[in-house]
Amino acid sequence: MSGLVVASNRGPLQFALRPDGGLGWSRGAGGLVSALAPVLKGRACTWISAAMTDGDRVVGAGAPAATQLSRSQPRLGRARLRLLTFERATYDRSYQEVANRTLWFLQHHLLDTRTLSFDERFRASWACYREVNRTFAAACAGAAADDGSVHLEDYHLALAPAMLRRRRPDVGILHLTCCPWAGPDYFGILPDDLAGELLAGMLGADLLGFLTDRWARNFLACCEAAGYDVDRECGVIRAEDGHKVHVRSYPLGVDQQALWRLAQRAPTPRGGEFGQGRLVVRVDRMEPTKNILRGLDGFAAFLERHPRCHGEVTHAVVTNLSRPEMAEYQRYRAEVEHRVEEINHCFGTPSWTPVRLIVLDDHPRALRAMAVADVLVVNPVWDGMNLVAKEAVLVNQRDAVLILSRNAGAADDLRSGAWLVNPFDTAELAEALAGALAMPAGERAERSRRLRTAATSMPPRRWFAVQNADLARVRRSLSPEP
Ligand code: G6P
Repeated sequence: MSGLVVASNRGPLQFALRPDGGLGWSRGAGGLVSALAPVLKGRACTWISAAMTDGDRVVGAGAPAATQLSRSQPRLGRARLRLLTFERATYDRSYQEVANRTLWFLQHHLLDTRTLSFDERFRASWACYREVNRTFAAACAGAAADDGSVHLEDYHLALAPAMLRRRRPDVGILHLTCCPWAGPDYFGILPDDLAGELLAGMLGADLLGFLTDRWARNFLACCEAAGYDVDRECGVIRAEDGHKVHVRSYPLGVDQQALWRLAQRAPTPRGGEFGQGRLVVRVDRMEPTKNILRGLDGFAAFLERHPRCHGEVTHAVVTNLSRPEMAEYQRYRAEVEHRVEEINHCFGTPSWTPVRLIVLDDHPRALRAMAVADVLVVNPVWDGMNLVAKEAVLVNQRDAVLILSRNAGAADDLRSGAWLVNPFDTAELAEALAGALAMPAGERAERSRRLRTAATSMPPRRWFAVQNADLARVRRSLSPEP
Protein backbone atom coordinates (compact mmCIF):
# COMPACT_ATOMS: atom_id res chain seq x y z
CA MET A 1 0.00 0.00 0.00
CA SER A 2 1.34 3.41 -0.92
CA GLY A 3 0.38 6.87 0.24
CA LEU A 4 1.17 8.02 -3.29
CA VAL A 5 0.32 6.11 -6.44
CA VAL A 6 1.18 7.41 -9.91
CA ALA A 7 -0.18 5.78 -13.06
CA SER A 8 0.89 6.53 -16.62
CA ASN A 9 0.64 4.53 -19.81
CA ARG A 10 4.38 4.63 -20.44
CA GLY A 11 6.60 3.81 -17.51
CA PRO A 12 9.98 5.20 -16.49
CA LEU A 13 11.86 2.06 -17.53
CA GLN A 14 11.49 0.04 -20.69
CA PHE A 15 12.62 -3.59 -20.59
CA ALA A 16 13.98 -5.53 -23.56
CA LEU A 17 14.55 -9.26 -23.95
CA ARG A 18 18.17 -9.96 -24.83
CA PRO A 19 19.10 -12.79 -27.21
CA ASP A 20 20.63 -14.67 -24.23
CA GLY A 21 17.21 -14.65 -22.52
CA GLY A 22 18.17 -11.98 -19.98
CA LEU A 23 16.61 -8.57 -19.66
CA GLY A 24 18.04 -5.18 -20.48
CA TRP A 25 16.43 -1.88 -19.70
CA SER A 26 16.46 1.70 -20.90
CA ARG A 27 14.73 4.88 -19.81
CA GLY A 28 11.16 5.39 -20.99
CA ALA A 29 10.93 8.20 -23.56
CA GLY A 30 8.66 11.26 -23.67
CA GLY A 31 8.25 14.56 -21.87
CA LEU A 32 5.93 13.34 -19.16
CA VAL A 33 8.09 10.42 -18.06
CA SER A 34 11.27 12.52 -18.22
CA ALA A 35 9.71 15.10 -15.91
CA LEU A 36 8.23 12.60 -13.46
CA ALA A 37 11.10 10.11 -13.20
CA PRO A 38 13.60 12.31 -11.33
CA VAL A 39 10.86 13.56 -9.01
CA LEU A 40 9.44 10.16 -8.12
CA LYS A 41 12.83 8.48 -7.82
CA GLY A 42 13.28 10.03 -4.41
CA ARG A 43 9.81 9.19 -3.10
CA ALA A 44 8.34 6.07 -1.60
CA CYS A 45 5.49 5.52 -4.03
CA THR A 46 4.06 3.03 -6.47
CA TRP A 47 4.29 3.83 -10.17
CA ILE A 48 1.94 1.80 -12.31
CA SER A 49 2.29 1.65 -16.08
CA ALA A 50 1.46 -0.59 -19.03
CA ALA A 51 3.74 -3.37 -20.22
CA MET A 52 4.46 -2.13 -23.76
CA THR A 53 7.36 -4.31 -24.88
CA ASP A 54 7.99 -8.07 -24.72
CA GLY A 55 10.52 -7.39 -21.98
CA ASP A 56 7.95 -5.35 -20.05
CA ARG A 57 5.52 -8.25 -20.30
CA VAL A 58 8.09 -10.61 -18.80
CA VAL A 59 8.66 -8.19 -15.93
CA GLY A 60 4.92 -7.58 -15.54
CA ALA A 61 4.26 -11.30 -15.27
CA GLY A 62 7.00 -11.61 -12.63
CA ALA A 63 8.80 -14.26 -14.69
CA PRO A 64 12.13 -15.69 -13.48
CA ALA A 65 14.29 -13.49 -15.73
CA ALA A 66 12.60 -10.46 -14.26
CA THR A 67 13.08 -11.66 -10.72
CA GLN A 68 16.75 -12.13 -11.49
CA LEU A 69 16.97 -8.62 -12.84
CA SER A 70 15.35 -6.88 -9.94
CA ARG A 71 15.71 -9.42 -7.14
CA SER A 72 12.14 -8.78 -6.04
CA GLN A 73 10.31 -5.85 -7.58
CA PRO A 74 11.62 -3.49 -10.23
CA ARG A 75 12.29 -0.10 -8.68
CA LEU A 76 13.30 3.38 -9.69
CA GLY A 77 15.11 4.77 -6.67
CA ARG A 78 12.55 4.54 -3.86
CA ALA A 79 9.64 4.20 -6.30
CA ARG A 80 8.27 0.69 -6.74
CA LEU A 81 7.27 -0.07 -10.31
CA ARG A 82 4.34 -2.19 -11.32
CA LEU A 83 3.75 -3.16 -14.95
CA LEU A 84 0.25 -4.14 -16.03
CA THR A 85 -0.02 -6.78 -18.73
CA PHE A 86 -2.89 -6.80 -21.19
CA GLU A 87 -4.01 -9.08 -23.94
CA ARG A 88 -1.97 -7.77 -26.89
CA ALA A 89 -4.87 -6.93 -29.24
CA THR A 90 -6.82 -5.18 -26.48
CA TYR A 91 -3.87 -3.02 -25.55
CA ASP A 92 -2.97 -2.21 -29.16
CA ARG A 93 -6.49 -1.12 -30.01
CA SER A 94 -6.67 1.03 -26.90
CA TYR A 95 -3.23 2.61 -27.37
CA GLN A 96 -3.08 2.87 -31.17
CA GLU A 97 -6.68 3.36 -32.29
CA VAL A 98 -8.12 5.34 -29.42
CA ALA A 99 -5.29 7.06 -27.56
CA ASN A 100 -2.89 7.82 -30.42
CA ARG A 101 -4.94 7.86 -33.60
CA THR A 102 -8.02 9.52 -32.12
CA LEU A 103 -7.53 11.37 -28.83
CA TRP A 104 -4.00 12.58 -29.59
CA PHE A 105 -4.98 13.78 -33.08
CA LEU A 106 -8.21 15.26 -31.73
CA GLN A 107 -6.49 17.37 -29.08
CA HIS A 108 -3.88 18.52 -31.65
CA HIS A 109 -6.52 19.34 -34.29
CA LEU A 110 -5.03 16.77 -36.64
CA LEU A 111 -7.98 14.51 -37.37
CA ASP A 112 -8.53 13.99 -41.07
CA THR A 113 -12.12 15.17 -41.25
CA ARG A 114 -12.37 14.24 -44.94
CA THR A 115 -12.16 10.54 -44.20
CA LEU A 116 -12.86 10.14 -40.49
CA SER A 117 -15.83 8.11 -39.32
CA PHE A 118 -16.64 6.53 -36.00
CA ASP A 119 -17.98 3.13 -36.95
CA GLU A 120 -18.64 -0.10 -35.09
CA ARG A 121 -15.00 -1.06 -35.31
CA PHE A 122 -14.03 2.15 -33.57
CA ARG A 123 -16.57 1.48 -30.84
CA ALA A 124 -15.02 -1.96 -30.34
CA SER A 125 -11.65 -0.23 -29.93
CA TRP A 126 -13.23 2.14 -27.44
CA ALA A 127 -14.35 -0.89 -25.43
CA CYS A 128 -10.66 -1.92 -25.30
CA TYR A 129 -9.74 1.58 -24.12
CA ARG A 130 -12.38 1.24 -21.41
CA GLU A 131 -10.96 -2.11 -20.37
CA VAL A 132 -7.41 -0.79 -20.16
CA ASN A 133 -8.63 2.12 -18.04
CA ARG A 134 -10.58 -0.29 -15.81
CA THR A 135 -7.47 -2.38 -15.23
CA PHE A 136 -5.45 0.72 -14.34
CA ALA A 137 -8.20 1.90 -11.97
CA ALA A 138 -8.33 -1.51 -10.27
CA ALA A 139 -4.54 -1.60 -9.89
CA CYS A 140 -4.53 1.91 -8.39
CA ALA A 141 -7.38 0.97 -6.07
CA GLY A 142 -5.37 -2.03 -4.89
CA ALA A 143 -2.14 -0.07 -4.39
CA ALA A 144 -3.38 3.10 -2.66
CA ALA A 145 -3.21 3.35 1.11
CA ASP A 146 -6.24 4.58 3.07
CA ASP A 147 -6.82 8.23 2.24
CA GLY A 148 -3.82 8.14 -0.10
CA SER A 149 -3.35 10.14 -3.30
CA VAL A 150 -3.48 8.83 -6.84
CA HIS A 151 -2.11 10.76 -9.83
CA LEU A 152 -3.43 9.53 -13.16
CA GLU A 153 -1.48 10.84 -16.10
CA ASP A 154 -2.68 11.91 -19.49
CA TYR A 155 -5.25 11.07 -22.16
CA HIS A 156 -4.55 7.34 -22.09
CA LEU A 157 -6.19 7.19 -18.68
CA ALA A 158 -9.08 9.63 -19.07
CA LEU A 159 -11.77 7.16 -17.99
CA ALA A 160 -9.88 5.85 -14.98
CA PRO A 161 -10.67 8.67 -12.50
CA ALA A 162 -14.40 7.86 -12.30
CA MET A 163 -13.69 4.11 -12.23
CA LEU A 164 -11.25 4.61 -9.37
CA ARG A 165 -13.61 6.89 -7.46
CA ARG A 166 -16.31 4.23 -7.51
CA ARG A 167 -13.88 1.70 -6.02
CA ARG A 168 -12.06 3.98 -3.61
CA PRO A 169 -13.99 7.10 -2.62
CA ASP A 170 -11.50 7.65 0.22
CA VAL A 171 -8.48 8.45 -2.01
CA GLY A 172 -7.65 11.84 -3.52
CA ILE A 173 -7.61 11.65 -7.31
CA LEU A 174 -5.73 13.95 -9.63
CA HIS A 175 -5.75 13.61 -13.40
CA LEU A 176 -3.23 15.57 -15.46
CA THR A 177 -3.57 16.11 -19.21
CA CYS A 178 -0.17 16.64 -20.88
CA CYS A 179 -1.43 17.45 -24.38
CA PRO A 180 -3.54 20.44 -25.45
CA TRP A 181 -7.30 20.42 -25.03
CA ALA A 182 -9.44 21.47 -28.01
CA GLY A 183 -12.37 23.87 -27.82
CA PRO A 184 -15.99 22.61 -27.81
CA ASP A 185 -16.55 22.69 -31.59
CA TYR A 186 -13.51 20.61 -32.42
CA PHE A 187 -14.00 18.35 -29.39
CA GLY A 188 -17.55 17.87 -30.70
CA ILE A 189 -16.14 15.79 -33.56
CA LEU A 190 -16.14 12.88 -31.09
CA PRO A 191 -19.51 11.07 -30.98
CA ASP A 192 -21.67 12.44 -28.15
CA ASP A 193 -21.80 9.20 -26.19
CA LEU A 194 -18.02 8.77 -26.24
CA ALA A 195 -17.30 12.45 -25.56
CA GLY A 196 -19.76 12.27 -22.66
CA GLU A 197 -18.06 9.16 -21.29
CA LEU A 198 -14.65 10.82 -21.58
CA LEU A 199 -15.72 13.95 -19.69
CA ALA A 200 -17.58 11.95 -17.04
CA GLY A 201 -14.51 9.73 -16.68
CA MET A 202 -12.20 12.67 -16.03
CA LEU A 203 -14.71 14.31 -13.73
CA GLY A 204 -14.30 11.38 -11.36
CA ALA A 205 -11.16 13.21 -10.20
CA ASP A 206 -11.00 15.80 -7.42
CA LEU A 207 -8.50 17.88 -9.32
CA LEU A 208 -7.89 18.11 -13.08
CA GLY A 209 -4.59 19.57 -14.23
CA PHE A 210 -3.61 20.99 -17.62
CA LEU A 211 -0.32 22.43 -18.76
CA THR A 212 -1.63 25.93 -19.49
CA ASP A 213 -4.64 28.09 -18.72
CA ARG A 214 -5.63 27.87 -22.39
CA TRP A 215 -6.20 24.10 -22.27
CA ALA A 216 -7.91 24.35 -18.87
CA ARG A 217 -10.29 27.01 -20.24
CA ASN A 218 -11.07 24.83 -23.28
CA PHE A 219 -11.87 21.92 -20.99
CA LEU A 220 -14.23 24.07 -18.90
CA ALA A 221 -15.92 25.24 -22.11
CA CYS A 222 -16.36 21.62 -23.28
CA CYS A 223 -17.94 20.69 -19.96
CA GLU A 224 -20.26 23.70 -20.14
CA ALA A 225 -21.27 22.77 -23.69
CA ALA A 226 -22.01 19.25 -22.44
CA GLY A 227 -24.46 20.67 -19.88
CA TYR A 228 -22.35 20.58 -16.69
CA ASP A 229 -22.66 23.26 -14.05
CA VAL A 230 -19.38 25.13 -14.55
CA ASP A 231 -17.95 28.06 -12.62
CA ARG A 232 -15.37 29.30 -15.13
CA GLU A 233 -14.14 32.05 -12.85
CA CYS A 234 -13.18 29.68 -10.04
CA GLY A 235 -12.39 26.70 -12.29
CA VAL A 236 -14.92 24.41 -10.61
CA ILE A 237 -17.28 21.87 -12.20
CA ARG A 238 -20.06 20.03 -10.43
CA ALA A 239 -19.77 16.32 -11.40
CA GLU A 240 -22.85 14.16 -11.92
CA ASP A 241 -22.64 12.72 -8.40
CA GLY A 242 -22.49 16.27 -7.01
CA HIS A 243 -18.81 16.43 -5.99
CA LYS A 244 -16.79 19.49 -6.95
CA VAL A 245 -13.99 19.06 -9.48
CA HIS A 246 -11.29 21.73 -9.48
CA VAL A 247 -9.57 22.57 -12.77
CA ARG A 248 -6.13 24.20 -12.73
CA SER A 249 -3.08 24.68 -14.88
CA TYR A 250 0.41 23.46 -13.94
CA PRO A 251 2.93 24.82 -16.47
CA LEU A 252 5.91 22.50 -16.37
CA GLY A 253 9.40 24.03 -16.55
CA VAL A 254 12.93 22.69 -16.56
CA ASP A 255 15.48 21.83 -13.85
CA GLN A 256 18.52 23.79 -14.95
CA GLN A 257 21.11 21.90 -12.90
CA ALA A 258 19.89 18.49 -14.05
CA LEU A 259 19.85 19.67 -17.65
CA TRP A 260 23.43 20.93 -17.47
CA ARG A 261 24.58 17.66 -15.94
CA LEU A 262 22.94 15.82 -18.83
CA ALA A 263 24.45 18.16 -21.42
CA GLN A 264 27.92 17.47 -19.98
CA ARG A 265 27.50 13.79 -20.84
CA ALA A 266 27.72 14.49 -24.58
CA PRO A 267 31.13 14.95 -26.19
CA THR A 268 31.86 18.46 -27.42
CA PRO A 269 30.54 18.70 -30.97
CA ARG A 270 33.15 18.32 -33.65
CA GLY A 271 33.43 21.37 -35.91
CA GLY A 272 30.58 21.28 -38.40
CA GLU A 273 28.93 18.27 -36.74
CA PHE A 274 25.51 19.86 -37.13
CA GLY A 275 26.25 21.84 -40.29
CA GLN A 276 28.38 24.72 -41.45
CA GLY A 277 27.95 28.47 -41.00
CA ARG A 278 25.20 29.87 -38.84
CA LEU A 279 22.85 27.22 -37.54
CA VAL A 280 19.08 27.04 -37.49
CA VAL A 281 18.29 24.08 -35.23
CA ARG A 282 15.16 22.17 -34.39
CA VAL A 283 14.88 19.11 -32.12
CA ASP A 284 11.68 17.08 -32.13
CA ARG A 285 10.16 13.68 -32.04
CA MET A 286 9.40 12.56 -35.61
CA GLU A 287 5.76 13.37 -35.14
CA PRO A 288 3.11 15.11 -37.30
CA THR A 289 2.14 17.49 -34.48
CA LYS A 290 5.68 18.91 -34.53
CA ASN A 291 5.13 20.39 -38.00
CA ILE A 292 8.57 19.55 -39.34
CA LEU A 293 7.39 19.74 -42.96
CA ARG A 294 6.16 23.33 -42.71
CA GLY A 295 9.37 24.17 -40.88
CA LEU A 296 11.28 22.89 -43.91
CA ASP A 297 9.02 24.82 -46.26
CA GLY A 298 9.69 28.00 -44.27
CA PHE A 299 13.43 27.40 -44.48
CA ALA A 300 13.20 26.79 -48.24
CA ALA A 301 11.24 30.04 -48.66
CA PHE A 302 13.92 31.85 -46.65
CA LEU A 303 16.65 30.48 -48.94
CA GLU A 304 14.60 31.47 -51.97
CA ARG A 305 14.36 35.06 -50.80
CA HIS A 306 17.87 35.40 -49.44
CA PRO A 307 20.35 34.02 -51.96
CA ARG A 308 23.17 35.82 -50.15
CA CYS A 309 22.65 33.43 -47.24
CA HIS A 310 23.33 30.40 -49.41
CA GLY A 311 26.39 28.65 -48.07
CA GLU A 312 26.20 30.75 -44.89
CA VAL A 313 23.29 29.13 -43.02
CA THR A 314 22.50 25.48 -42.36
CA HIS A 315 19.33 23.98 -40.93
CA ALA A 316 19.93 21.03 -38.55
CA VAL A 317 16.79 18.95 -38.14
CA VAL A 318 17.43 16.66 -35.19
CA THR A 319 14.72 14.09 -34.57
CA ASN A 320 14.14 10.89 -32.69
CA LEU A 321 11.64 8.30 -33.84
CA SER A 322 8.22 8.17 -32.24
CA ARG A 323 5.44 5.55 -32.48
CA PRO A 324 7.22 3.90 -35.43
CA GLU A 325 4.60 1.16 -35.59
CA MET A 326 1.94 3.62 -36.78
CA ALA A 327 1.49 4.07 -40.54
CA GLU A 328 0.81 7.82 -40.13
CA TYR A 329 4.20 8.25 -38.47
CA GLN A 330 6.01 6.12 -41.06
CA ARG A 331 4.47 8.21 -43.86
CA TYR A 332 5.36 11.42 -42.08
CA ARG A 333 8.99 10.35 -41.73
CA ALA A 334 9.14 9.49 -45.44
CA GLU A 335 7.68 12.89 -46.36
CA VAL A 336 10.21 14.69 -44.16
CA GLU A 337 13.09 12.75 -45.72
CA HIS A 338 11.78 13.48 -49.19
CA ARG A 339 11.41 17.22 -48.51
CA VAL A 340 14.94 17.41 -47.10
CA GLU A 341 16.27 15.76 -50.27
CA GLU A 342 14.29 18.19 -52.45
CA ILE A 343 15.65 21.25 -50.64
CA ASN A 344 19.20 19.96 -50.73
CA HIS A 345 18.85 19.13 -54.41
CA CYS A 346 17.39 22.54 -55.22
CA PHE A 347 19.75 24.78 -53.21
CA GLY A 348 22.77 22.65 -52.25
CA THR A 349 26.25 23.07 -53.71
CA PRO A 350 29.24 20.72 -53.66
CA SER A 351 30.48 22.49 -50.54
CA TRP A 352 27.19 23.19 -48.73
CA THR A 353 24.27 20.99 -47.67
CA PRO A 354 21.44 23.35 -46.64
CA VAL A 355 19.54 20.84 -44.46
CA ARG A 356 21.07 18.18 -42.25
CA LEU A 357 18.54 15.58 -41.09
CA ILE A 358 19.90 13.80 -38.04
CA VAL A 359 17.84 10.94 -36.64
CA LEU A 360 19.08 9.92 -33.22
CA ASP A 361 17.94 8.73 -29.84
CA ASP A 362 20.53 10.53 -27.79
CA HIS A 363 19.24 13.31 -25.55
CA PRO A 364 22.68 14.66 -24.53
CA ARG A 365 23.69 14.97 -28.19
CA ALA A 366 20.42 16.69 -29.04
CA LEU A 367 21.19 19.16 -26.24
CA ARG A 368 24.58 19.84 -27.82
CA ALA A 369 22.83 20.70 -31.09
CA MET A 370 20.62 23.16 -29.20
CA ALA A 371 23.73 24.61 -27.53
CA VAL A 372 25.36 25.68 -30.79
CA ALA A 373 22.22 27.03 -32.51
CA ASP A 374 21.95 30.64 -33.68
CA VAL A 375 18.23 30.25 -34.22
CA LEU A 376 15.93 27.65 -32.67
CA VAL A 377 12.72 26.68 -34.43
CA VAL A 378 9.88 25.14 -32.39
CA ASN A 379 6.76 25.35 -34.55
CA PRO A 380 4.28 22.60 -33.55
CA VAL A 381 0.77 22.84 -34.99
CA TRP A 382 -0.39 22.46 -31.39
CA ASP A 383 1.49 21.27 -28.33
CA GLY A 384 0.57 20.76 -24.69
CA MET A 385 3.75 22.51 -23.52
CA ASN A 386 6.89 21.66 -25.55
CA LEU A 387 9.81 21.23 -23.20
CA VAL A 388 12.34 21.40 -26.04
CA ALA A 389 11.69 25.16 -26.25
CA LYS A 390 12.53 25.52 -22.56
CA GLU A 391 15.52 23.17 -22.58
CA ALA A 392 16.95 24.80 -25.66
CA VAL A 393 17.06 28.31 -24.23
CA LEU A 394 18.83 27.01 -21.14
CA VAL A 395 21.60 25.05 -22.84
CA ASN A 396 22.13 27.42 -25.75
CA GLN A 397 25.46 29.23 -25.71
CA ARG A 398 24.89 31.78 -28.47
CA ASP A 399 21.85 33.77 -27.31
CA ALA A 400 19.86 32.00 -29.99
CA VAL A 401 16.58 33.55 -31.08
CA LEU A 402 13.68 31.21 -30.29
CA ILE A 403 11.06 31.11 -33.05
CA LEU A 404 8.07 29.55 -31.33
CA SER A 405 4.61 28.48 -32.45
CA ARG A 406 1.93 30.49 -30.72
CA ASN A 407 -0.02 27.20 -30.40
CA ALA A 408 2.57 25.60 -28.12
CA GLY A 409 1.69 25.76 -24.44
CA ALA A 410 5.24 27.05 -23.90
CA ALA A 411 4.29 30.22 -25.79
CA ASP A 412 2.25 31.32 -22.77
CA ASP A 413 5.35 31.18 -20.55
CA LEU A 414 7.99 32.31 -23.06
CA ARG A 415 6.17 35.03 -25.00
CA SER A 416 8.24 37.87 -23.54
CA GLY A 417 11.45 36.55 -25.11
CA ALA A 418 10.37 34.37 -28.03
CA TRP A 419 9.48 35.32 -31.60
CA LEU A 420 5.97 33.93 -31.90
CA VAL A 421 4.68 32.64 -35.23
CA ASN A 422 1.54 31.12 -36.68
CA PRO A 423 2.69 27.52 -37.35
CA PHE A 424 0.72 27.32 -40.61
CA ASP A 425 2.25 30.46 -42.14
CA THR A 426 5.46 29.41 -43.87
CA ALA A 427 6.00 32.88 -45.38
CA GLU A 428 5.94 34.34 -41.87
CA LEU A 429 8.44 31.70 -40.75
CA ALA A 430 10.76 32.63 -43.63
CA GLU A 431 10.64 36.27 -42.52
CA ALA A 432 11.16 35.33 -38.90
CA LEU A 433 14.28 33.33 -39.87
CA ALA A 434 15.71 36.33 -41.73
CA GLY A 435 14.82 38.67 -38.86
CA ALA A 436 16.28 36.36 -36.24
CA LEU A 437 19.58 35.97 -38.13
CA ALA A 438 19.83 39.76 -38.46
CA MET A 439 18.88 40.57 -34.86
CA PRO A 440 21.46 42.70 -33.04
CA ALA A 441 23.46 41.01 -30.29
CA GLY A 442 22.02 43.27 -27.57
CA GLU A 443 18.44 42.29 -28.32
CA ARG A 444 19.32 38.62 -28.57
CA ALA A 445 20.99 38.74 -25.16
CA GLU A 446 18.03 40.52 -23.57
CA ARG A 447 15.53 38.06 -25.04
CA SER A 448 17.67 35.10 -23.92
CA ARG A 449 17.78 36.43 -20.39
CA ARG A 450 13.99 36.65 -20.28
CA LEU A 451 13.61 33.20 -21.78
CA ARG A 452 15.94 31.58 -19.26
CA THR A 453 14.09 33.08 -16.32
CA ALA A 454 10.73 31.95 -17.65
CA ALA A 455 11.92 28.44 -18.54
CA THR A 456 13.06 27.66 -15.00
CA SER A 457 10.16 29.17 -13.10
CA MET A 458 8.49 25.81 -12.39
CA PRO A 459 11.04 22.95 -12.29
CA PRO A 460 9.57 19.41 -12.15
CA ARG A 461 10.08 18.93 -8.41
CA ARG A 462 8.15 22.07 -7.55
CA TRP A 463 5.60 21.38 -10.28
CA PHE A 464 4.80 18.01 -8.75
CA ALA A 465 4.81 19.35 -5.17
CA VAL A 466 2.29 22.07 -6.10
CA GLN A 467 -0.04 19.49 -7.64
CA ASN A 468 0.22 17.33 -4.55
CA ALA A 469 -0.41 20.22 -2.20
CA ASP A 470 -3.42 21.32 -4.27
CA LEU A 471 -4.85 17.82 -4.17
CA ALA A 472 -4.51 17.75 -0.39
CA ARG A 473 -6.25 21.14 -0.12
CA VAL A 474 -9.07 20.13 -2.41
CA ARG A 475 -9.64 16.98 -0.37
CA ARG A 476 -10.00 19.19 2.70
CA SER A 477 -12.61 21.20 0.76
CA LEU A 478 -10.25 24.12 0.32
CA SER A 479 -9.48 25.74 -3.03
CA PRO A 480 -6.13 25.12 -4.73
CA GLU A 481 -3.47 27.76 -4.10
CA PRO A 482 -4.10 30.71 -6.43
C1 G6P B 1 4.58 13.04 -25.23
C2 G6P B 1 3.49 13.85 -24.66
C3 G6P B 1 2.82 13.12 -23.53
C4 G6P B 1 2.45 11.71 -23.89
C5 G6P B 1 3.58 11.00 -24.55
C6 G6P B 1 3.10 9.70 -25.11
O1 G6P B 1 5.63 12.93 -24.33
O2 G6P B 1 3.97 15.09 -24.20
O3 G6P B 1 1.65 13.84 -23.27
O4 G6P B 1 2.01 11.00 -22.75
O5 G6P B 1 4.08 11.78 -25.60
O6 G6P B 1 3.99 9.23 -26.04
P1 G6P B 1 4.16 7.70 -26.33
O7 G6P B 1 5.43 7.60 -27.09
O8 G6P B 1 4.22 7.03 -25.00
O9 G6P B 1 2.99 7.30 -27.14
